[in-house]
Amino acid sequence: MRLKDKLVFLTGGSTGIGFHCAAAYAREGAKVVIVALDEAESSAAARKLGDGHIGFACNIAKDAEVKAAIERTLAAYGRIDVIHNNAGVASPSKPLHETSDAEWDLLMDVNLRGVLHTTRHGLDALRTSKGNILNTSSLVGVIGQSLHAAYTATKGALNTLTKSMALDYAPYGVRVNAVCPAGVWTPMLRQWASEQPDPAGINRYLDDIHPLGYCPEGDVIADASVFLVSDEARFVTGHIMHVSGGAEIGYRR
Ligand SMILES: NC(=O)c1ccc[n+]([C@@H]2O[C@H](COP(=O)([O-])OP(=O)(O)OC[C@H]3O[C@@H](n4cnc5c(N)ncnc54)[C@H](O)[C@@H]3O)[C@@H](O)[C@H]2O)c1
Repeated sequence: MRLKDKLVFLTGGSTGIGFHCAAAYAREGAKVVIVALDEAESSAAARKLGDGHIGFACNIAKDAEVKAAIERTLAAYGRIDVIHNNAGVASPSKPLHETSDAEWDLLMDVNLRGVLHTTRHGLDALRTSKGNILNTSSLVGVIGQSLHAAYTATKGALNTLTKSMALDYAPYGVRVNAVCPAGVWTPMLRQWASEQPDPAGINRYLDDIHPLGYCPEGDVIADASVFLVSDEARFVTGHIMHVSGGAEIGYRR
């Protein structure tokens, strides 16, 4: 029970990687507040975790909605120990010059502005609990990716932001880290796969990019996340942890 009596505020916890993290946090003794785009999906996800967890809709791109969500969490539980910024969008799969302003704005608003909002409204609670922040970033924010320019820009920025936040909040005893998946089978990855020139060959490709030999499910990210948000990582901050099956190492064809 590495997260006994902890309260985790988790964005994008209704599905995919986020739901795997929610389940792992609950197993380790935490209470989890799941916020995501869809109300019914969020509350259903929280119910699956058992008693004492809640889920509701909150668009993290909207400052007022995040403020209300943090206030609701504090009214219900009186504390926040972890903010896990996991919600994200990944479309479109395009080079930069083909990316529309609307597509660019949505990526920035969700993947980056959302972190601004949760930090703005949640930091005081984390200072009180000596808590921590975990950002779900992406390996492509480190190594780049073809046909995914705007998305990779948000994740590259999130990696630097993680380090800057870690420096700014270290004096308060608040740690800030990021976890970087390569590929993980989720609704988001299925959408991305369907946008590729050869959707049929994509399963093989996604297995091959990971030297460990397969494209995983979200459990591998959840296990690393439990470590990073727990006291076992009490001296780890500003760390960008690759959980990528080795996708970034060695010379590749
Ligand atoms: N799946 C992968 O291969 C992969 C790889 C690297 C990084 N990631 C990152 O992992 C995170 C989770 O991705 P996933 O694959 O599980 O995606 P997913 O599409 O399965 O889930 C995304 C979640 O984010 C929520 N969300 C989206 N926009 C939101 C908004 N404006 N406000 C609140 N919630 C919102 C959705 O409701 C959902 O709960 C993302 O940040 C993504 O960039 C995923």
